Amino acid sequence: MVKPSTEKSNAQVCRLRHYALLACFLWTSFYLALWLLNGGIHIKQFQPPRPKPVPQNNSSSIMSAFDMGISDEEWERLQKAIEWPIPDQEITRLDQSTSPVHSTFSIMGLKESYKVGEKISVAITARDHRKNLKRYGGDFFKAKLFNAELKASVYGEVVDHRNGTYSVALLLPWEGQAQVFVRLEHSSEVVQILKKYRDSSFPRTHFNGFFEGSGPNKIRISEVVECNLKWGADGSWSKGDCCCEYKDIKTGTVWQCERPKKLSCDKLVRHSGGRLENPLHLFEQQLFTKKLTNVAINGDKKIINVLPNTSAIGTMEKCRSGMMTPVPAGFYLKDVWKSFVCNTRQFSPAQMANCLKNKIVYFMGDSTTRQWFEYLERTVPGIKRMDLHTHPAGGPLMAVELKNNIIVHWRVHGVPLRFSKVMPIIDLHYISNDIDEIAGGPHAVVVFTYCAHLVFHPITFYVYEVAKIRQSVVALLSRAPETTVVIKSGNTAGLKNIYQSDWHMLQLDTVMREMFRDIDGVIFLDVWQMTSCHYLREHIHPGPVIIANEVDMLLSYVCPA
Ligand SMILES: *[C@@H]1O[C@H](CO)[C@@H](O)[C@H](O)[C@H]1NC(C)=O
Ligand SMILES: *[C@@H]1O[C@H](CO)[C@@H](O)[C@H](O)[C@H]1NC(C)=O
Ligand SMILES: *[C@@H]1O[C@H](CO)[C@@H](O)[C@H](O)[C@H]1NC(C)=O
Ligand SMILES: *[C@@H]1O[C@H](CO)[C@@H](O)[C@H](O)[C@H]1NC(C)=O
Repeated sequence: MVKPSTEKSNAQVCRLRHYALLACFLWTSFYLALWLLNGGIHIKQFQPPRPKPVPQNNSSSIMSAFDMGISDEEWERLQKAIEWPIPDQEITRLDQSTSPVHSTFSIMGLKESYKVGEKISVAITARDHRKNLKRYGGDFFKAKLFNAELKASVYGEVVDHRNGTYSVALLLPWEGQAQVFVRLEHSSEVVQILKKYRDSSFPRTHFNGFFEGSGPNKIRISEVVECNLKWGADGSWSKGDCCCEYKDIKTGTVWQCERPKKLSCDKLVRHSGGRLENPLHLFEQQLFTKKLTNVAINGDKKIINVLPNTSAIGTMEKCRSGMMTPVPAGFYLKDVWKSFVCNTRQFSPAQMANCLKNKIVYFMGDSTTRQWFEYLERTVPGIKRMDLHTHPAGGPLMAVELKNNIIVHWRVHGVPLRFSKVMPIIDLHYISNDIDEIAGGPHAVVVFTYCAHLVFHPITFYVYEVAKIRQSVVALLSRAPETTVVIKSGNTAGLKNIYQSDWHMLQLDTVMREMFRDIDGVIFLDVWQMTSCHYLREHIHPGPVIIANEVDMLLSYVCPA
């Protein structure tokens, strides 16, 4: 960098910079206006600057399986499981990306009528904004079959043929009519961007650390600084000896906060989620616009007629650990989820109390397990929340029912956690550490989720944390094999942007499922399909109908029929 030698040249540089900025602004505005005039799509001239390289080091590439605490073979297996095709080239024009307007679906060989239990096959063709067929895969489509009057729906898995075509097999599980619905959640071009920033060390999220203690004249003072995860060779967030470091002795996870000016490092007492930082440049942002995100695509709207069949579909198998989640995992009919994993049932309030008699339920993780806590609190007759003098959204929370000796706990997982509530940092416990402190036994039901708050961090960190949780679960099941251990998967969410995306969640879910695949005695309660195909608008906090079905499923495992 050339240093200006005099004030005059400094001023000139400044003026020049102003002109440059102004020119840049005008240029951008002009083309943006042109782009909008063209319906935001058909435009050849728009040639934005080539994407910048990721600002910092690629932290996943410098973490080894050893750093994550797993074997090389396992890391290879995990990478294979989360492999997702992305464009085979660098995208420089918006019109090269997949268009929800020009992509279509059709039902293959549609018949006059079907029988319950049959399947239909749907073909999706992806096209770009100039109607050209896409040549590569990686688009994130979601597909379902539904009937609004019957409050019925079922999820379909989209198979990527990696040549711009996709197919979906949809089961016809109910009698009556049905329609296909397909949406493009993200183009493969967006997935490429999501992947790039997840694997980079760009801090999309920041956190606040609240320091409190005695200042110079014994007056209690407070200071707020930024904090973040320390992960990767360079610490990923802040470099050098900048910070106070907090290493959890058992998990080895390192949290760091900027050094406060007056107080010492040991005075960190509270925590909250902080600002978000957008790494996207202008061109990348255009790929994420609302018009291109989570949009229904055109296709066969024909009504499918489904006639009854004499044999009933579904499974009578008892719910237990180690069951695989098929596709579909079940379906909704009149808002009741009928599972194909195992024989789930609906619990009346009295049956819920009976099922939970003499149980201690430990809910851990995030607000989605808090929703389960709150549902039990609302539904189990006579259950009461104790006042633990904590914030109702942040917890920890506890509810008891004295007649049947039921205790229900809820607590959030450790940092990184993006709760906006300012919480005592001492109340944020790593799931693995808490599991280590549970004796377990037939009365203990341990339920955790670990997903929604981890989408901001490299997947290598997630693997590291899940490996720690796995160690603790294995130890728990070894000392008390009769303990019920349930992993609640992540659910789909309303936001679909660079911060939070279902694509991220799906990747983390896949890692969690794979890492627990061979652990006997663990129940993986997969709510992905339940939250993806329901008629309610997707939300990180699914609506009450969905939560009721999720908890019925949980209780079906605790008290199998
Ligand atoms: C990236 O990582 C390499 C090797 O770990 C290191 O030498 C380099 O200084 C890092 N670059 C930045 C910008 O942090
Ligand atoms: C980061 O490293 C991983 C693993 O080596 C690689 O697959 C990925 O493409 C890299 N990402 C970027 C943005 O360089
Ligand atoms: C319909 O029921 C019969 C037995 O009653 C069974 O053999 C057949 O597979 C069923 N069809 C479908 C599509 O499930
Ligand atoms: C794409 O791949 C599928 C599966 O291999 C194949 O059936 C189909 O013909 C291919 N389509 C195109 C357009 O290449």
